[in-house]
Amino acid sequence: MRRKIVAGNWKMNKSLSQGLQLVDEILSASTSTEVLKIIAPPFTHLTAIAEILKSKADFAVAAQDCHHLPSGAYTGEVTAEMVASTGAKYVIIGHSERRLYAGETNDILIQKLNRALAANLIPIFCIGESIEERNAKTHLEAIRAQIKEALFHLSPNDFGKIIIAYEPVWAIGTGVTATSYQAQGVHDFIRTEINKKYGKEISENISILYGGSCNAQNAKELFACADIDGGLIGGASLKSSDFTAITNSF
Ligand code: PGA
Repeated sequence: MRRKIVAGNWKMNKSLSQGLQLVDEILSASTSTEVLKIIAPPFTHLTAIAEILKSKADFAVAAQDCHHLPSGAYTGEVTAEMVASTGAKYVIIGHSERRLYAGETNDILIQKLNRALAANLIPIFCIGESIEERNAKTHLEAIRAQIKEALFHLSPNDFGKIIIAYEPVWAIGTGVTATSYQAQGVHDFIRTEINKKYGKEISENISILYGGSCNAQNAKELFACADIDGGLIGGASLKSSDFTAITNSF
């Protein structure tokens, strides 16, 4: 059985004290231990939050990114090994905001994945089509290319460790969610592509999360879909009541 997961991507929000308060509120409100809750705060908060959550089997911490090289003169950057040294166990890679604002290409993403896995971090790898691709009905080809070009170099053993997040770019931060029909269609497509490449066992066991304006109102319908194993949540992860309601939406 694949794991149900809700990951909160805080992006560039919350001071350290605000972040610690949010974690505290989430811990007090959390009732289900069945769902894995992953908190992805800014780098500066990783150590403190990982320390608080280290004894909780149903909580974990993720970085929002890591650098693709092991060390060097790259001012402002953070390596996968540094992330792992904070106690974080996961790292988001390939978020569309990084592809857009930091110009991350498949080549860079492949290196990031390899660095993350070498540091024993579990990548949460983001894919998703643009509005132009969706309107032109080429979204499935776009998704296929993203998976093939950035992920299919992985050995079955490494591929079996990762989490995929399907985040249509047009749904991120826009308030426009993919319908459960649209999201399920793409999740099923992703799983089928993985099946063709890696076989049934790996494709059945990989968790595929939906992201893009997922909130306390629409999470239940999305999570009820056969191939949606949870969510990568941006805006709605910044309020403990919303985040908790989403984690209770399975
Ligand atoms: P959103 O962001 O929930 O605010 O749309 C999702 C994400 O970017 O991961």
